[in-house]
Amino acid sequence: MTAFTVGYFVGSLARNSINRKLAHALVRLAPAELQLREIPIGELPLYSYDHDADYPPAGRALKAAIAGVDAVLFVTPEYNRSIPGALKNAIDWASRPWGQNSFARKPSATIGTSPGKIGTAVGQQHLKSILSFCNSPQMNAIEAYIEFTPGLITDDGEVTVASTAEFLANYMREFHGYITRVYTALPRTAT
Ligand SMILES: Cc1cc2nc3c(=O)[nH]c(=O)nc-3n(C[C@H](O)[C@H](O)[C@H](O)COP(=O)(O)O)c2cc1C
Repeated sequence: MTAFTVGYFVGSLARNSINRKLAHALVRLAPAELQLREIPIGELPLYSYDHDADYPPAGRALKAAIAGVDAVLFVTPEYNRSIPGALKNAIDWASRPWGQNSFARKPSATIGTSPGKIGTAVGQQHLKSILSFCNSPQMNAIEAYIEFTPGLITDDGEVTVASTAEFLANYMREFHGYITRVYTALPRTAT
């Protein structure tokens, strides 16, 4: 199997984020052919197109980080039935300046967890819509809306329920297969 690098975004800035725990779990459960690294979003100022002529270091670092990976993975909470402002801000930074959209043709997948029963489903639909506009080929299936029950994932990413661990491991195997198919159909040398 071909190896790929995956940059992951955690949509939450909270110290005890359950989505960060989920991200840690995904790092542990991913197949060896996926090398995951976080793309941080917490230091970005609020985006304005006034910055387009001269991106600040945090904006440049974000775009360089995305350019340096084969695919991106969004691990995000749902806030008010959408995505957190911090994540939207990061996507806005990465999508600009006009003509230099970092997500164009970059394969992506979304996943999230919430204490609620629908486990970020509505927020992820918003995210999928944004990523469509950003021209990112997205893994449509399998979907992953994880209801976070107390103790489900430890701080360092150990999943305590075997069926959930298997589901998440399979999700990452599916993502590997999806990235492979995208780059088979659209080799990186093609324009
Ligand atoms: C501003 C705000 C809005 C929220 N809106 C939703 C929501 O729409 N759906 C939901 O399931 N949970 C919602 N929650 C609860 C979050 O799912 C919960 O706080 C969860 O821990 C957030 O994930 P995180 O710990 O990774 O930040 C909201 C929480 C906050 C702070």
